[in-house]
Amino acid sequence: MESIAQNPWAALAYLVAGVCFILALRGLSSPATSQRGNRAGMIGMTIAVVTTLATHVPRIAPHCPTGAICENYGTPVLDTLTLVELLAAIGIGAAIGIVTARRIAMTAMPQLVAAFHSLVGLAAVLVAGAAFLNPGAFGIASDGVIFLQSRIEMGLGVAIGAITFSGSVIAFLKLNGNMGGKPILLPGRHVINLGMLAAILGLIAYFTQDQSPWIFWTVTALSFAIGFLLIIPIGGADMPVVVSMLNSYSGWAAAAMGFTLHNSAMIITGALVGSSGAILSYIMCRAMNRSFLSVIAGGFGGDAGGGASGAAAVDRPWKRGSAEDAAFLMSQAEQVIIVPGYGMAVAQAQHVLREMADKLKAHGVRVKYAIHPVAGRMPGHMNVLLAEANVPYDEVFELEDINSEFAQTDVAFVIGANDVTNPAAKTDKSSPIYGMPILDVEKAKTVLFIKRSMGGVGYAGVDNEVFYRDNTMMLLADAKKMVEEIVKSLD
Ligand code: TAP
Repeated sequence: MESIAQNPWAALAYLVAGVCFILALRGLSSPATSQRGNRAGMIGMTIAVVTTLATHVPRIAPHCPTGAICENYGTPVLDTLTLVELLAAIGIGAAIGIVTARRIAMTAMPQLVAAFHSLVGLAAVLVAGAAFLNPGAFGIASDGVIFLQSRIEMGLGVAIGAITFSGSVIAFLKLNGNMGGKPILLPGRHVINLGMLAAILGLIAYFTQDQSPWIFWTVTALSFAIGFLLIIPIGGADMPVVVSMLNSYSGWAAAAMGFTLHNSAMIITGALVGSSGAILSYIMCRAMNRSFLSVIAGGFGGDAGGGASGAAAVDRPWKRGSAEDAAFLMSQAEQVIIVPGYGMAVAQAQHVLREMADKLKAHGVRVKYAIHPVAGRMPGHMNVLLAEANVPYDEVFELEDINSEFAQTDVAFVIGANDVTNPAAKTDKSSPIYGMPILDVEKAKTVLFIKRSMGGVGYAGVDNEVFYRDNTMMLLADAKKMVEEIVKSLD
């Protein structure tokens, strides 16, 4: 296997791939440049894969016919069998990726992301396992003794990879609804987690002195277990932070494996994913008003329960409105702020919503969109859907830029959002969303609230006080159907 140190062209190609990945991240930071960013990422990945194939497929001496002098018999040729195996693996992976990406519903994206993170974690564990079992093939041992630096890299890589794998599997099961969103709180979980973490670090330190298999495999097993234990206590509304945190872990696992494989593209890419995921987790923590440390420790915000405990109290008085009422109120308004949420994504109502906004603007109404950082089920979920419907970017505002405007707004039009508008986050200490900043829709003169039934609750499973306010009118229907009716009435 040719090392990067011996091949400056490969090192240069990996550097170019790294720059492409940085440009990709930069492009993805805004919907306007995201397609360009995606293209830069694809180019970078193609360069990295082609370079790896060109430099890592072994070369073998050509077949030497009987009776010939075989020494220096022609230049070595590419081992085509290995090349075919590698291309077959890439083809199978690409086919699965293309089919999944085409079939997946937008609403199932978060669980898909969690599933893909689990694969990165598993890949890191498998690479570390292979390197441990056959260190000579990876060039990380002399006479069977693994180099000290490689032991540290392998220990950390297998631990982070295993935590990412089991944590992501639990996140997938929770987001996919196979496991309840309610936190599972083991007694003394913080002590157990801390004890296991100390054991993992202690064993990795011991592994640097003694490369006995039991140490390596115990680190792997404990790491699988702690990944599971860290994620099961996290419930309801806090899952977005977990997904971005696991994203970060998957990057660090890949970077650690990049060191073991002496592959600078993996190191650069892993570090980029790891650090951008960590920054995203930090931003999400701030958005959710959670402390970063408590996320890493696991089980924050879970003590309050959540789940179905606070399901809607349907017997309280509330006002029901029709599409005609909504059309009339909005056409008379000076300003309407639209608050989209997960229900808009489920109903795929973004296109007809933009049509409604166009009609309101034609009536002389000022229309703005307010985006909560965790609206929907993945970071940027609402921005992506609104961009897909060609909503102008200058009409879309982040929470901190628009929240103060609700008090001077005639109509807050809530379409399939719930938790992100729930004032219990400000007042009810026992609520699972307590402390999360919310969009202050209840301060608008009128709140129009679209959801399908009074019984349905948001992701955190709690009732919303806004439904019962005097200034709220509930529009109970599928979001797309209701907005279509409103558009007809506006005509
Ligand atoms: P949610 O609180 O989940 O509320 C969604 C609302 O949409 C519900 O009131 C639901 O009520 C309604 N709905 C569902 N389908 C609908 C349809 N076809 N037509 C009309 N209404 C429909 O959504 P949110 O306000 O966007 O809050 C997001 C929540 O998800 C937060 O708790 C957040 O922490 C969590 N979360 C976010 C992420 C990220 S990163 N964004 C990831 C995981 C979890 P009905 O059932 O009665 O219709």
